[in-house]
Amino acid sequence: MITEIKKGVYWVGVVDWQLRHFHGHELSTPRGSAYSAFLVIDDKKVIIDSVWSPFTQEYLDNIRSVIDPAEIDIVVSNHSEPDHSGALPALMELCPNATVIVSRQGATSLPGHYHKNWNLKPVKTGDRISIGRRELLFIEATMLHWPDSMFTFVTGDNILFPNDAFGQHYATAWRWNDQVDQGELFYEAQRYYANIITPYSTHVTKKINEILAMNLPIEMICPSHGVFWRDNPMQIVHKYLEYAAQKGERRAVVLYDTMWNATRHMAEAIGEGLASAGVDYKIFHLAVSDRNEVLTEIFKSRGVILGSPTLNHGVLPSVAPIMADIKGLHFLNKVGAAFGSYGWANESVKAIEELFTQCGIPLAAPGVAAKWQPTEEYLAKCRELGKAVAEKI
Ligand code: FEO
Repeated sequence: MITEIKKGVYWVGVVDWQLRHFHGHELSTPRGSAYSAFLVIDDKKVIIDSVWSPFTQEYLDNIRSVIDPAEIDIVVSNHSEPDHSGALPALMELCPNATVIVSRQGATSLPGHYHKNWNLKPVKTGDRISIGRRELLFIEATMLHWPDSMFTFVTGDNILFPNDAFGQHYATAWRWNDQVDQGELFYEAQRYYANIITPYSTHVTKKINEILAMNLPIEMICPSHGVFWRDNPMQIVHKYLEYAAQKGERRAVVLYDTMWNATRHMAEAIGEGLASAGVDYKIFHLAVSDRNEVLTEIFKSRGVILGSPTLNHGVLPSVAPIMADIKGLHFLNKVGAAFGSYGWANESVKAIEELFTQCGIPLAAPGVAAKWQPTEEYLAKCRELGKAVAEKI
């Protein structure tokens, strides 16, 4: 069902209540998502973005409930990732002469996905197109989160359409930030940032400062996933500056997998050490935990304590993905520590410490490696390890 978000500006997107995995199976989405697209009726008829291809019919029906798609003059494609461009081929069949506005990077990535001969018009930051009473103002948002990412600002209505930025994978009955559970909203906004945007934090800070310097009279921010920001819309912009700074909270995550509970007992002893020093913590058994929830907790926490028994000269396979994520997401301002049990070769703690060193994450103290099941002496060392992390954060 469409929503008129301002007079003559319609949300023509879809809510995906079913979605539980995104980017293939890379990202879990326990609260579903929404793919937002917009129709602006002025002298020119403008579409901003589309939706993922399984929802093409619903998207076209939404547009048809306002106008005949053949009347569309301009299609803005802020970002070519298929969740925002998947329905474009079907739309363009209905308005083949429409001008497709893309960023300069989008001029290669959009044809790279669809191999169609559309009438592309690349734009750069500061370019404006008059559509009648309103203008479209474009802002390149390179690496937020793809090279082609772009924001579009609609003057007069003063709506910023930033595509992925400021979004949440959050299916809701309502469209606005003031209508939903605030705990869920900000958890999903942070989860989205932590899992998708973290490596580009420097770009985020730079881009937001550039936009703030433009003094745009932003009244609404309508991202392409989740709810729109109309109540104090700049709160999410300032929240992004906070996320990008990655200061983290004085808390820790203890992550492990275990075969016969030796490493688990060590994890729990480390938790006792953290708590005795007044530091809140969460423990995750990686083999049965949601990877993206774990990454969100790492993002929030200054302390990251990772453990694994040694298997085949390294860590358990269930620990390897989080190690790849820690490396790839370029977390800042963390303190690390390692632990684990072993039988005849002590290798896992070394591998984890090497990872932290490669990632520029300082070690709070040397890791604890316990042979077979940890004795009380080794559990005491784990408690001391927790206290050492607490002191450093
Ligand atoms: Fe929502 Fe980068 O796609």
